[in-house]
Amino acid sequence: MDYLIEVNNELCIGCEACIDVCPRDCFVLNSEGKSVMGSHLCHSCGHCISVCPEKALSHRDFGEDEYPLISNVLNSKTVDGEQLYYLLKSIRSTRKYKSKPISKEILKQLVDVSRFSPTGHHIQNVEMVVVDNPEMIQQLKDEVTEAIKGVLKKLDNPFYRFLGILIGKGETIRKAQGSRARLERMLAGFEVGTDYLFHGAPVIAVFHAKTKSLIPLDNCTIASTYVRIVGEGHGLGSCYIGYLVYSSKYNPRIREILNIPKENTVFRVLILGYPKHKFRTFVARNPAKVQWK
Ligand SMILES: Cc1cc2nc3c(=O)[nH]c(=O)nc-3n(C[C@H](O)[C@H](O)[C@H](O)COP(=O)(O)O)c2cc1C
Ligand code: SF4
Ligand code: SF4
Repeated sequence: MDYLIEVNNELCIGCEACIDVCPRDCFVLNSEGKSVMGSHLCHSCGHCISVCPEKALSHRDFGEDEYPLISNVLNSKTVDGEQLYYLLKSIRSTRKYKSKPISKEILKQLVDVSRFSPTGHHIQNVEMVVVDNPEMIQQLKDEVTEAIKGVLKKLDNPFYRFLGILIGKGETIRKAQGSRARLERMLAGFEVGTDYLFHGAPVIAVFHAKTKSLIPLDNCTIASTYVRIVGEGHGLGSCYIGYLVYSSKYNPRIREILNIPKENTVFRVLILGYPKHKFRTFVARNPAKVQWK
C-alpha cells in the first residue's frame, strides 16, 4: 500500500520516537521491533521525519534536502527566551518609513517563513501577494479611495440607512458612522499627498485563502504574524492594514488588481519597510486579563 511516509527498516532502530510524536497515530512497531506505517490519515506535518535519529523516514513527495538539520543553522545561543520575549514586546506598528526598498532576498525569506506557520489540520491554505511595485500601490490607493467614497455616499443616503436598519444591518451602519471621521481624513490626506492608508511603506503583503476552506482568517493571521516577526529580525517595521481588507470586500477592482481568485477572500494585509523612527522604549499596556487556576 502506498503511504506518504516511507520507513527504511534497515536504518530503523525501533526507538518509537515517530510513533510517539505522530499526531495521527500512523505508526506501529512490528514484531521485529521496527516502525511501520499503517494509516492513510497522515497530513504531511513531517514531525516523524524531524524526530527520527536515524534518518530512517522519508516523505514520498519531498526530497531529503527539504528536511535539513535545524542544528546546522540555529543554536540555543542564537535564540534566547528572554531576548525573544523582549523582541516581541518591542514590536510596534510602524507608520513612518524610509524610502529604502526591501531586497528580493529578504522578501523571499519572508514568504518562505509563512509556509511554516501552523494551519488548522495542516491544511496550508494561506496564499500571498507581495506588492513592491509603486504603480500598483498607487492603483490600490485609488481603488480604496473609490471604496471609501462609496461607503460615505451610502451613509449619507437616508433611504439606504432606513433600508439597512430594516434588514438588520443597523449595527454595521453605526460602526461605519463611527469610522466616518477616519475615512474622511484618509480621503483628505490623499488629496494633499499624505498616505494614511499604507503610510508610505514600500511593500504590501496580502494574505488570502479560499473563503470556504478551514479557518482561513486564523491561518492568514498567524502566517502574517510569522512574516512580521522575521521582518523585525531584518530591521523591518510593519503594520497590519485592515482598511485594505475591508475595502477589498466593497470594491472588486482591488481583488482584480491583486489577481485574487474569485473563490478566495483577502483576510490580512501587512505593510513592511525600513522604519524612519526607532522605538526606544516599551509602551504601556493594560494588565493581562488572566485567571490562574
Ligand atoms: C487586525 C488589525 C488591523 C489593523 N489595521 C490597521 C490599519 O488599517 N491602519 C493602521 O494604521 N493600523 C492598523 N492596525 C494597527 C493597530 O492600530 C495597532 O496594532 C494598535 O494601535 C497597537 O499598536 P502597536 O501595534 O504599535 O502595539 C491594525 C492592527 C490589527 C491587529
Ligand atoms: S508526517 Fe505527521 S501525520 Fe504523517 S506520519 Fe509523520 S508525524 Fe504522522
Ligand atoms: S523514529 Fe526512526 S528509528 Fe525511531 S522508530 Fe521511528 S523510524 Fe525507527
